[in-house]
Amino acid sequence: MLALKSFALYLIASAASVTALPAALHPFLKPPGASRGPCPGLNILANHGFLPRDGKGLTLPILQQALSDAYNFSPDFTATVFAIQSNPVTGIAVPFALEDLKKHVPFVVEHDASISRNDFATSRSGDNYSYNRTLFANSLQYVRDLGFTELNSTAMAHIRHLRETQSEMYNPQFSYGRLSVNPDGSLVVDPSMPEFFALGEAAFILDLFGSNNGLADSDTSMAQIAWMFTTESFPSGYKPPAVQATLTTALARAAEIKGQLASLPPIPKDVAAKYWNTDFSKKLALQLGGSLLDMS
Ligand code: HEM
Repeated sequence: MLALKSFALYLIASAASVTALPAALHPFLKPPGASRGPCPGLNILANHGFLPRDGKGLTLPILQQALSDAYNFSPDFTATVFAIQSNPVTGIAVPFALEDLKKHVPFVVEHDASISRNDFATSRSGDNYSYNRTLFANSLQYVRDLGFTELNSTAMAHIRHLRETQSEMYNPQFSYGRLSVNPDGSLVVDPSMPEFFALGEAAFILDLFGSNNGLADSDTSMAQIAWMFTTESFPSGYKPPAVQATLTTALARAAEIKGQLASLPPIPKDVAAKYWNTDFSKKLALQLGGSLLDMS
């Protein structure tokens, strides 16, 4: 517990010592009453004015321009994510606001076992979209204790494994279809399965903010990532990757992480419990009939 506290302090200290480097035309500015949601990647774009700073009125052309300018995402790729997110089945109407993305029903992108947000069922007032520093620090501490000093696809697979294990243990309403990998290493694509998005998000972090700042696996500074999640601002020295991200590249990177995840042995319950969240969430899990008592 002491190690965890000191790591949380380390995160704050390192975040404070890293300087954000937004483009001159895109200074950080978050107006009062601005809408922000569960996606740190989009929150950053609103904070830096690539998206409307109030986080509202979002349409496909606005997102395509912003994601292309700031992250070098292909417009087709953005259109695919957008189409999955906003359609008559999900009921997320266009234009939407960033907070609308918190909607937690089947077939939306929002999912359980996030690395920096609570599950809908085991959070105070169903807050599944605000950044949770404790939860995120736990995730990073877990891989630090496994010996990782930076994030790469292996570390990210461990974090995803931890968060899935924790949600299985604590959240009796955990709903999280898992994907499989074909013999040739490609991913079995099923956008109805939340793991599909969770793996993609993990890949985004490594590809955008890793030292290669491209589409190859690379070491990614934990301090930079802590900065990005905590302040919802670009890490120091950030520039858009030279290589464009497409649906194909994103699937390949997600499959890479999934392949690593699938080879990991189960995490003992007492270990997963050590790195889990808050007393409040534990109490709530108990009220919901979770298996907390199994874990001592
Ligand atoms: C049209 C484009 C996008 C949409 C509609 C979208 C939507 C979402 C939603 C709904 C979530 C919540 C999932 C959860 O429950 O954890 C999420 C999470 C996330 N998004 Fe996005 N996103 C988009 C693009 C991006 C981009 C370009 C990045 C790049 C940085 C990004 C990074 C992330 C990350 C890292 C998470 C995981 C947060 C966590 O696990 O705590 N997203 N996104």
